[in-house]
Amino acid sequence: MPEEDRPKVGPRHVAIIMDGNGRWAQARGRPRLFGHHAGAKRVREVLEACEDLGVEYLTIFAFSTENWKRTQTEVAGLMSLFRRYITQETKALNEKNVRVRFIGDRVRLDNKLVTLMDQLETLTGDNDGVQLTIAINYGGRDEVARATRRLAEDVAAGKLNPVDVDEETLPRYLDTRVLPDPDLVIRTSGEARISNFLLWQSAYSEYEFIDTLWPDFTAEELARLCKGYGARDRRYGTVKA
Ligand code: FPP
Repeated sequence: MPEEDRPKVGPRHVAIIMDGNGRWAQARGRPRLFGHHAGAKRVREVLEACEDLGVEYLTIFAFSTENWKRTQTEVAGLMSLFRRYITQETKALNEKNVRVRFIGDRVRLDNKLVTLMDQLETLTGDNDGVQLTIAINYGGRDEVARATRRLAEDVAAGKLNPVDVDEETLPRYLDTRVLPDPDLVIRTSGEARISNFLLWQSAYSEYEFIDTLWPDFTAEELARLCKGYGARDRRYGTVKA
């Protein structure tokens, strides 16, 4: 990547809502799953771009708690795509020193997929390259509800005093507990909403809603957005000195 395309102060953590696969496929007269397969191919290029751009954490929204409402064919196709992606990409991800984590509720996922997810997390557990987090059966509200349940269990067990619960406490129970908050959240496909993604964590994130459909998203576009991020003034509710 040319030096002038590298952001000076880039985002450390980029999170992406990969939207538009269905419309991309439809525009080509193909079934929706064709778009999801094209979308999965984009992940590799974007991951490589993160390394180039100095992005340390990449979090991608692959399947939401609401996506179960899609047709059985699409849901089964996506689950099979996740299994295939993990199986096919494991070697390359590990060789590239990528550390992979999954967030979301695994209870509803099939055992074979969960085993593959666990194995990939373990295999890449000591890698210190780009930290890739894949959200599967993830919903921000569901995550906060599950975290609250665990927190309440600790209170009931006498491990936590309710008066000590503050803004620092809840994040320790979230799926993302070891990750920094996202600096930049990108949503492709022209929709300007966050659809239950990283609700707690993105309180002060910068947002980019772009028209590109996810299967058309490129490393160059990510570089442009990261550069734009570098020019933003993040005040976190304060005023400039
Ligand atoms: C939203 O587009 C996309 C999804 C629900 C699935 C996202 C999955 C991938 C990009 C591929 C798999 C990823 C990995 C990590 C293997 P949409 O179907 O809602 O598009 P539409 O709004 O045009 O219908």
